[in-house]
Amino acid sequence: MQALEEVTILITGSTDGLGERVATDLAGKGATILLHGRDPDKGRRVQAKIREATGSNRLQYFNADLSSLAEVGRLAASVADSCQRLDVLINNAGLGAGPDPRRRENSAEGFELRFAVNYLAPFLLTRRLLRLLCRTAEQVGQARIVNVASAAQRAIELDDVMLEKSYDGMRAYSQSKLAQVMFTFDLALELAGTGVTVNALHPASLMDTKMVREWFGTPRTTVDEGAPYVERLAVAKELDGVTGTYYDQDEPSLATDQAYDQKARRRLREMSLIWTGLGEAR
Ligand SMILES: NC(=O)c1ccc[n+]([C@@H]2O[C@H](COP(=O)([O-])OP(=O)(O)OC[C@H]3O[C@@H](n4cnc5c(N)ncnc54)[C@H](OP(=O)(O)O)[C@@H]3O)[C@@H](O)[C@H]2O)c1
Repeated sequence: MQALEEVTILITGSTDGLGERVATDLAGKGATILLHGRDPDKGRRVQAKIREATGSNRLQYFNADLSSLAEVGRLAASVADSCQRLDVLINNAGLGAGPDPRRRENSAEGFELRFAVNYLAPFLLTRRLLRLLCRTAEQVGQARIVNVASAAQRAIELDDVMLEKSYDGMRAYSQSKLAQVMFTFDLALELAGTGVTVNALHPASLMDTKMVREWFGTPRTTVDEGAPYVERLAVAKELDGVTGTYYDQDEPSLATDQAYDQKARRRLREMSLIWTGLGEAR
């Protein structure tokens, strides 16, 4: 990885929790940080807070509600239009099971909300930013995609991905997180030889963030525990060239079995390309 002063990093969901902490740390080390959130006022406040904490003037805020694929498309376009390079994309934004885990909700386009925000949005955003990531890798030797997944993973019911027959929030969250890992493995194969690497991780369990407080009540750790592992995948030199790996913190680890089922991965990819409007299955 280049010197951090030369590197541009987009972190989704950097207005709170883990993402805000990672953004603050990497801004403090000199990287240009593209912040992202869904509330412009909160975005401005967090940008000012990070500037104050780090002295960085290399911060830019992008707004998009990831529960709308149309907004995801606009986010990708505005990042691509305003940036010459993108060294690292950290897909961090996410939704937990919510305060009432029995309540099923839909995204703007009618997809199950957790699946849409946690998986379909980063699937589309990443694919729309691939040209910029690949161009950056051509120019400087590498670019990275980091998917903030979770150890909470559950096999996807491929005939009822949107959980219309039977819903529970934990299942919705866990299948969306496995889908992120399946996407990571697939994309790493697809990007072999381009210089763009893609890895996923479980950062830490029950960190004290809004998601955990709303869902479980009592946290067990803080973002101090998880943030360094995200930052390591994003910028550590020792991971140059490492791709297609799921980490439990800094340990290469096994995901839930379905992630290694190539037929399941192909089905998920084919459906996702159609759902996100990216085109017919490839
Ligand atoms: N906390 C844990 O123990 C834990 C464990 C394993 C994995 N993770 C993963 O870590 C990541 C970060 O979670 P966190 O714990 O830091 O949660 P958090 O504090 O609730 O932060 C989530 C971030 O995502 C943003 N976000 C949520 N829904 C969005 C939407 N529809 N559009 C745009 N942005 C949206 C939030 O924006 P607002 O500021 O507007 O709410 C916030 O910036 C998630 O992917 C989560 O699954 C967390």
